[in-house]
Amino acid sequence: MPQLCVIEGDGIGREVVPAAVEVLRATVPGLEVFPAQAGWECFQQRGVSVPAETLESVRACGAALFGAVSSPARKVEGYRSAILTLRQELDLYANLRPVRGLPGVSPRPEIDFVILRENTEGMYAGRERREGDTAIAERVITRAASRRVGLRALEIVRARQRKRLTIVHKANVLPVTDGLFRDTILETAHECGAERDGIVIDELLVDTAAFQIASQPERFDVLVTTNLFGDILSDEAAYWCGGMGLAPSLNWGDGLALAEPVHGSAPDIAGKGIANPLAAILSAALLARHAWGLSEPAARIETAVRTALAQGLPATTVEITRAILDRLSHG
Ligand code: IPM
Ligand code: MN
Repeated sequence: MPQLCVIEGDGIGREVVPAAVEVLRATVPGLEVFPAQAGWECFQQRGVSVPAETLESVRACGAALFGAVSSPARKVEGYRSAILTLRQELDLYANLRPVRGLPGVSPRPEIDFVILRENTEGMYAGRERREGDTAIAERVITRAASRRVGLRALEIVRARQRKRLTIVHKANVLPVTDGLFRDTILETAHECGAERDGIVIDELLVDTAAFQIASQPERFDVLVTTNLFGDILSDEAAYWCGGMGLAPSLNWGDGLALAEPVHGSAPDIAGKGIANPLAAILSAALLARHAWGLSEPAARIETAVRTALAQGLPATTVEITRAILDRLSHG
């Protein structure tokens, strides 16, 4: 039976995650759910943003659904962002961020591409320090991490129609780090016989990619990039999903996956019952497809979301969830 560790976190995470769990229960028979804690409130209560038993629970389940967490704007001694801790501790090395247009909300509903973001190193390596009046951040790129995210990208490309992989980097300014990232992925693709299998591989500088995501989103199929570039480009690309409230993601390692809406904890609307649960629901569908191999239930959830959106969404979290559950039960 599929097992799911549920981490609501802070703010609207507590509203959108229960909605997504309801939708999963309605589509995945026998689903077992295990709640766990993480985030800023958890830190304030217990002095740790991700307790050891939360990590254990995700490992034991193999799949987790994460809402959102708040973070203090200034450095707090001993605090580390819960989501970054989860990604690193669980080695969730690839962050899958599909960019699919949706009826009624997307400026171009036919848009369909994927951003795959390296999820463990780069500017997120945590190597930041002060030397007097100089502040230094080290950006770490390894062959091993570039290779595994490249392999995952190739796997995703093969499963799609258009079979085009775009490596996004800044090797003109960072020839050593981004040169290693690009060359490793090119070598990996070559070793796997990507060209022989009809996969077209190209590359773009990140600034050009940013411009083209805005001006020609139909050009893309699968983009693979380093951690911070992927963070920024995926927010830009969320515009084509219809906004941050609609953009799903999957933090994806080997045999372990944690689904997470791209949006944050939205303290300004938390507790009002008006958070849009669709990004969390679409993230749950990614979990069904990629963590449990349940492509049919995943597609049913996505279709229910599309149909509900095409008919116009109600205003509250509970009503939106009800609309999705209705579509699921009436085929
Ligand atoms: C994301 C978020 C996180 C990130 C923050 C909350 C640390 O913006 O998942 O895109 O920067 O990766
Ligand atoms: Mn982000």
